[in-house]
Amino acid sequence: MEKICVVGLGYIGLPTSAVFARAGYEIVGVDVSEHVVDKLNRGEIHIEEVGLPEIVKEVVENGKLRGSMTPEEADVFIIAVPTPIHEDYTANVDYVISATKAIAPYLSKGNVVIVESTIPPRTMDDIVAPILREQGFDTEKDLYLAHCPERVLPGRILIELIENTRIVGGTTPEAAKKAADVYRAIVTGDVIETEAVTAEMSKLMENTFRDVNIALANELAKISSRLGVDAHQVIELANKHPRVNIHHPGPGVGGHCLAVDPYFIVEKATEEAKLIKLSRDINNSMPHFVVEQVERMTVELKEPKIAAFGLTYKGNIDDVRESPAIEIVEMLRRNPRFDVRVFDPHVRDEQVSFPVVSFEEAIQDANLVVVLADHNEFKTMKAEDFLSGMKTPVIFDTKNCTNLDEEKMTVYKIGNLTNLKAIQE
Ligand SMILES: NC(=O)c1ccc[n+]([C@@H]2O[C@H](COP(=O)([O-])OP(=O)(O)OC[C@H]3O[C@@H](n4cnc5c(N)ncnc54)[C@H](O)[C@@H]3O)[C@@H](O)[C@H]2O)c1
Repeated sequence: MEKICVVGLGYIGLPTSAVFARAGYEIVGVDVSEHVVDKLNRGEIHIEEVGLPEIVKEVVENGKLRGSMTPEEADVFIIAVPTPIHEDYTANVDYVISATKAIAPYLSKGNVVIVESTIPPRTMDDIVAPILREQGFDTEKDLYLAHCPERVLPGRILIELIENTRIVGGTTPEAAKKAADVYRAIVTGDVIETEAVTAEMSKLMENTFRDVNIALANELAKISSRLGVDAHQVIELANKHPRVNIHHPGPGVGGHCLAVDPYFIVEKATEEAKLIKLSRDINNSMPHFVVEQVERMTVELKEPKIAAFGLTYKGNIDDVRESPAIEIVEMLRRNPRFDVRVFDPHVRDEQVSFPVVSFEEAIQDANLVVVLADHNEFKTMKAEDFLSGMKTPVIFDTKNCTNLDEEKMTVYKIGNLTNLKAIQE
């Protein structure tokens, strides 16, 4: 194996290209975006990822990696294009289909074709293989087709690409072996061979496991609010059991994986995937629950001033995709009674459709601060930071991440609303 054609140069395709290029392979990186390709050919990158600019610069300079808008003949093809959901929550595999069609004219017997994009179960067998059969290939003999899902964590992609265990699902056992060998050249973790549909399901179930468990914690928060229980304490105590690990409640589930992947299963087995669907519904209901609590807290105020802290779907990143915090801010802003100001040290104005202001501006004369992301900056805030600026120093922490002196200000947490009282002017 000498040459690899990587299709899709985003958060997955670009680091993958760079890592293979650094290992000595000749890589052509293909993207439909001219901007992405041009930048790459100048040795620059269009995404943020620790350590990636340096490696890309090096491998572009030494000629191992170059960008192109059209695929080329190669030994191995890796597809890493987006797989979002449609508005009706069904998977949009159009990008995978067009990438497969785009590489078809450049394929020859003996090539390995790997899809790294997260895909619904049976996509390799029912969608990718038939497209290539239409092009005249015998997909059992001429080509080696496999799905190798990604499970890297943004911010640690270059480390995890190498160290994580990889699941390689072939449409035949030979395909699994050939594709696994591609990764064995760069991966220090285990590379496990299986069937394509098993690899597809294992990736989806990893994120579904987390989504379902978060839904359970969110349901506990709602039950606790009704029954007057402190859910955070319940979780801490229950988790003393050696085989119990209850997750933590929050304002909802966001991002392009956890909030999306479970739907790929629901779509394919709607009758059976009841718990998975219900978990999605519970997590999707959390922004509404948060806004309801804000309304309860501010019911006695004429024009409540609310400061929303944090817009991203998790802490210490700048990614706002599918973020429940954005939904909450938009719901609050739609209420004409509320004056809402937003602060997030990681998010720039142009990423969202409303202004993002400074800490001081956000809290000035505010009645309530609602914490919606667990950024490190929020974990270290002190009550004194709020006392002079806020009109009524009350915090609603939906991530249970702050450590404020509760003698000095009122702190409500999403799982402990037992003593909730309406804020007075
Ligand atoms: N980012 C992550 O952390 C992560 C983790 C696990 C799995 N995944 C999965 O990996 C896949 C890729 O995700 P990503 O985050 O890299 O996406 P991305 O949006 O960052 O990048 C995808 C790139 O593909 C390009 N593209 C779209 N259609 C194309 C086509 N037909 N031909 C060539 N290029 C095309 C786009 O221009 C874009 O640059 C998705 O299925 C995603 O669910 C991502």
